[in-house]
Formats: sequence, structure tokens, C-alpha cells
Amino acid sequence: MQKRGGKDKASGLVLACALWLWAAPTWAWPTTAFLSRYWHRPLPVGGRLLPHWPAAQVALSARACGQCHIRQYREWRRSRHALAMGPGVVGQLMAAGRGRWAFIRGCLLCHAPAGRQNREVRAALMGAALGPMAHQGVTCADCHVRAYRRFGPPLESYLAAGRIIHGGFTPSNDFTRSRFCISCHQFHGNGARLHGALLENVYGEWRRSHYARAGVTCQTCHMPNGRHDFYGIHNPRFVRKALTIRLRVEPREAKRDLVARLSIMNSGVGHDFPTYTTPEVVATIWQDCARHICPGTARRLVIGRRISLDLEHQYFDTRLKPGQARQLSYGVARAAHATALEARIIVSPDAAYVRFFRAYLARYRLTHKERAAIKRALARDENSRYVLWQAKRPLSRVTQPDSSSSTPPDR
Ligand code: HEC
Ligand code: HEC
Ligand code: HEC
Ligand code: HEC
Ligand code: HEC
Repeated sequence: MQKRGGKDKASGLVLACALWLWAAPTWAWPTTAFLSRYWHRPLPVGGRLLPHWPAAQVALSARACGQCHIRQYREWRRSRHALAMGPGVVGQLMAAGRGRWAFIRGCLLCHAPAGRQNREVRAALMGAALGPMAHQGVTCADCHVRAYRRFGPPLESYLAAGRIIHGGFTPSNDFTRSRFCISCHQFHGNGARLHGALLENVYGEWRRSHYARAGVTCQTCHMPNGRHDFYGIHNPRFVRKALTIRLRVEPREAKRDLVARLSIMNSGVGHDFPTYTTPEVVATIWQDCARHICPGTARRLVIGRRISLDLEHQYFDTRLKPGQARQLSYGVARAAHATALEARIIVSPDAAYVRFFRAYLARYRLTHKERAAIKRALARDENSRYVLWQAKRPLSRVTQPDSSSSTPPDR
């Protein structure tokens, strides 16, 4: 709130998504006449009221919509969109302080884009509690309401309903196109790049894939049957279904090495796996000695795109394009006490945020409240990692490798 060197808060450490602010002179995305108007910030979800309008039209919070649209509300509530104003974002906005409204408003373009939400954040910077609409992050009204009017896909079931609840709704086919999603999920062509590749390019990656040609959109995969849970990298089952994973353990031959090959293929992700610079996927193969890794036997493969916290350097980009596979080849001498060969793939959806928040806590002087929020965000992000896949192949007891022992079938 006061001085506290808030000046340099925004520089030095930046989130990949923050770069978008400096990078976006215009709304230069592939768009349509409807969408360029529809997504113009700040989104005017409310406005002047007419006195005869019923409560169902005027109430714009997600919970109000949820009284009738029960399924959408239940699904959205556990989606990442509902968490878009979590402690990591709010803590930083508060730490930036009210003197840095331009910076803050930039974040809100994607995290709480309605004018009403912007005003609530502004009030919170003056000391009020964060209002309910802002707290909801990317909420129903952001995607569906302008000036109290509802917009949605032209679904037969609704068009035929013949009831007029909130003044009916305006159908638009653009709700089913990938372009609907990109004002928050894609840098435009002049945006920040490292090694020639935009820092956020999910639409560009999708556009070049066979999914675009086949008409498989963001919504097809992330909103199947109109679902609103927006599963992504944080959902193990969703991720697992989109990959083909094979472990082959070679029959051991004259040389005493244990030979194996773990192959990971992007067989169902409609863009690079993973698309952003924030997640990291680590595959490891090792030999097991009494439930410990036999020393020196672990081999690793990292899938992801790692960049420095100041976004100046790229360390590696090993993401898998749609259809692409990568192998971890293993050839390591059998350890004397090894009883099994093990393989595991661990996904850290928020790996870059863990590094970011740790550095943030170390670098900046924060109030007790701001520090508590960032610490909560850090704990949440550390806890989001999960085991995506694992396998264990027992090794025969013979110390002398036995080439006739067959490989158990893949699972
Ligand atoms: C172009 C849209 C966009 C802008 C602008 C933007 N973000 Fe994000 N942000 C996203 C998306 C999409 C994600 C989720 C993907 C990911 O994890 O990288 C995200 C994730 C995050 C996360 C991690 C998730 C969480 O809730 O803890 C934080 C923290 C965050 N943003 C903070 C900010 C801050 C601070 C700003 C302003 C400097 C900002 N963002 C600006 C789109 C944006
Ligand atoms: C990030 C944007 C976004 C948010 C947030 C969002 N929706 Fe949707 N919604 C869509 C899109 C896109 C479709 C069309 C999906 C399709 O048919 O492919 C849709 C479809 C719908 C439909 C039509 C029926 C159906 O299930 O397809 C209703 C009703 C609806 N949403 C209500 C809600 C409610 C209520 C909320 C809040 C709890 C909400 N939406 C939050 C984007 C969003
Ligand atoms: C009182 C019940 C009620 C409330 C509250 C309500 N809706 Fe609806 N909604 C309906 C009904 C019924 C329809 C079907 C069309 C009609 O009768 O107007 C509908 C239709 C829709 C559609 C069109 C679906 C399509 O095919 O595109 C969208 C989008 C939508 N509502 C969004 C919302 C949002 C967002 C909110 C909250 C801001 C909300 N509704 C609040 C009952 C409600
Ligand atoms: C063919 C299905 C498919 C299509 C099409 C698709 N996605 Fe995904 N998406 C996935 C799967 C599976 C994941 C989880 C694995 C991953 O993170 O790459 C994912 C992950 C994500 C994530 C999580 C962050 C990350 O780093 O991966 C975001 C954000 C996302 N998709 C947005 C989009 C947008 C926006 C579009 C449209 C331009 C889109 N997706 C098109 C399947 C798809
Ligand atoms: C108003 C901005 C906005 C729009 C429009 C939007 N998103 Fe998002 N989306 C976000 C933000 C912000 C996050 C990150 C929230 C967080 O993690 O704190 C996010 C997260 C996601 C994720 C990540 C899930 C994960 O596990 O990390 C997926 C998938 C996703 N969005 C899909 C979509 C799709 C599909 C559409 C279009 C129907 C869409 N989004 C439209 C802002 C938006």
C-alpha cells in the first residue's frame, strides 16, 4: 500500500503471461467482427438497468446463474477459471499497490476482465475486501453476458425451449470456434519470443496441427458436451488419455547393461505438450535397491520449455508437438543388489510458478498479509505435482544376466 519499493515490483521478475502487456499494441488476433467487439476490455457485463427487469436478468454472479444452470455452475466452480483470482494473483496485485494501476489492470485483462471486476479490485486496493465478482476470476458473465444480455452457442435444446427467462439469449456460432478463447490464451504475432517461438502460442500450435484441419477446436477437447470444468494439465486422467506411453525392457544380452526404452507420444493434445512455459514433465528410469534408487542408476528426460525468471533466456524446449514422440533410452550396468527396474513420469503443472514465488518471497519486502497470500500460492503449486504413470519390472535374482528371461508384457 505505501512506499515499500513497489516501483520495481513489476520488473526483474515477471510472469510469462505479464509479457503480454507490453506486447499487445492492438487486438491483432485472428478474430471475427462479433468477437473483436465482444472481447473488447473492460468487458461491459452490466450497465444501465431498466426497472422492470427481473432478478434473474440483473444478478450476474456465478452463483446466481447456478440456480438454473446447475451443471455448468458445478463444473465451472472446480475449474481453473474459477481460481483465476487465487492467492498468487491477488497477493501480487496487492503488493504492487494502488500506484501501479496500469500494471494491475493489465493482469485483470485475463484474470478478471469485466469493468465491474476491475472496480472491485480497485476498491480492494483502497482497503475494502475483494468483491464477489472479482473473486470469481473468469466467471460466467465474462464469457456470456454483455449489458445484461446473454450470449451463447446456438443449441437446439435452448432455442426450442420457448421460455424467456433473462430476456432470452443471443446465439452465436463463434462460441464454438477456437478464436473465442484466444484473447486470453495467445500472444499475437508481435508478442514476445524466445528462439523464434512466441511465449504463448496455443492457438498458433493448434492452427498448424491436423486438429484444426479436422475441425477439432479448443471446446471439443476442453468443453466436451458443453462441460465447463476446462480440464487441462492439472487433471491427471485428462493428460494421461492424451498420451501414448510405452516401456520396453530389452532382453539382456552379452553385455551386462540393463537396456530399456521409455517412449512418450503426444497422441491427443491439440497443441504442444505442454503448451505453456510453466509446467514440467519429468520421466525417470532407475534400478531399485531395497526401495531406494541404486546409486548412479537413474536417467532422466525432461519435457517442457524452461525459460529464466526474467524471461530473457531459454534453457531448453523439449515439448512434444501433436503426433511427436520422444524417448528416454536406458543402458546402465546392473547394480549388484538391484531387484527391479522402475520407470515413472511426474507432472509438475506449476513448476515455473514454484520457482517464481520462491524468488518473489526472497526478493521483495512484503506486508504480513501479502507474504501469507504468496506463501499459500506457493504451497498450492508445490502440491499440484502428481505421478502420471509408473511401471516396475522385477529383475531375476541371478547376478549373471539371463537372456532367456522374457520381458513382461507392457501395461
Ligand atoms: C494474456 C492473458 C493473461 C494476462 C495479461 C495475465 N495472465 Fe496470468 N495467467 C494467464 C493464463 C492463461 C494462466 C494459466 C496458464 C499458466 O499457468 O501459465 C495464468 C496463470 C497465472 C498465475 C498462476 C496461477 C495462479 O492462480 O496462481 C499467476 C500467479 C498469474 N497468472 C499472475 C498474473 C499477473 C500478476 C499478471 C499481470 C502482471 C498476469 N497474470 C497477466 C493469462 C494471463
Ligand atoms: C471461459 C469462458 C466460459 C465461462 C467462464 C463459462 N462459459 Fe458457458 N460456455 C462457454 C462456451 C465457449 C460455450 C459453448 C460450448 C460449446 O458448445 O462448444 C458455453 C456454453 C454454455 C451454455 C449452453 C449449454 C451448454 O452446456 O453448452 C450455458 C447454459 C452456459 N455456458 C452457462 C454458463 C454458466 C452458468 C457459467 C458459470 C457457472 C459459464 N457458462 C461459464 C464459455 C464459458
Ligand atoms: C431463473 C433461471 C435462470 C437464471 C438465473 C439464469 N438463466 Fe440462463 N437460461 C435459463 C433458461 C430457461 C434458458 C433457456 C432460454 C430461455 O428461456 O431464455 C437460459 C439460457 C441461457 C443461455 C443460452 C444457452 C445457449 O444455448 O446458448 C446462456 C448462455 C445462459 N442462459 C447464461 C446464463 C448466465 C451467464 C446466467 C447468470 C449471469 C444465467 N444464464 C442465469 C435460465 C436461467
Ligand atoms: C485435441 C484436443 C485438444 C485441443 C484441440 C486443445 N487442447 Fe488444450 N489441452 C489438451 C490436453 C490433453 C491438455 C493437457 C496436456 C497439456 O497440458 O498439454 C491440454 C492443456 C491445455 C492447457 C493447459 C496449459 C498447458 O501448458 O498445457 C491450456 C491453457 C489449453 N490446453 C488451452 C487450449 C486452447 C486455448 C485450445 C484452442 C486453441 C486448446 N487447448 C486446444 C487437449 C486439447
Ligand atoms: C477472460 C480470459 C479467458 C478466456 C476468455 C478463456 N480463458 Fe482459459 N484461462 C484463463 C486464465 C486466467 C486461466 C488460469 C487460471 C489459473 O490457473 O489461475 C485459464 C486456464 C485455462 C485452462 C488451464 C487448465 C489447467 O489445468 O491448467 C484451460 C484448459 C483453459 N483455460 C481453456 C480455455 C478455453 C477452452 C477457453 C475458451 C472456451 C478459455 N479457456 C477462455 C483465462 C481465460
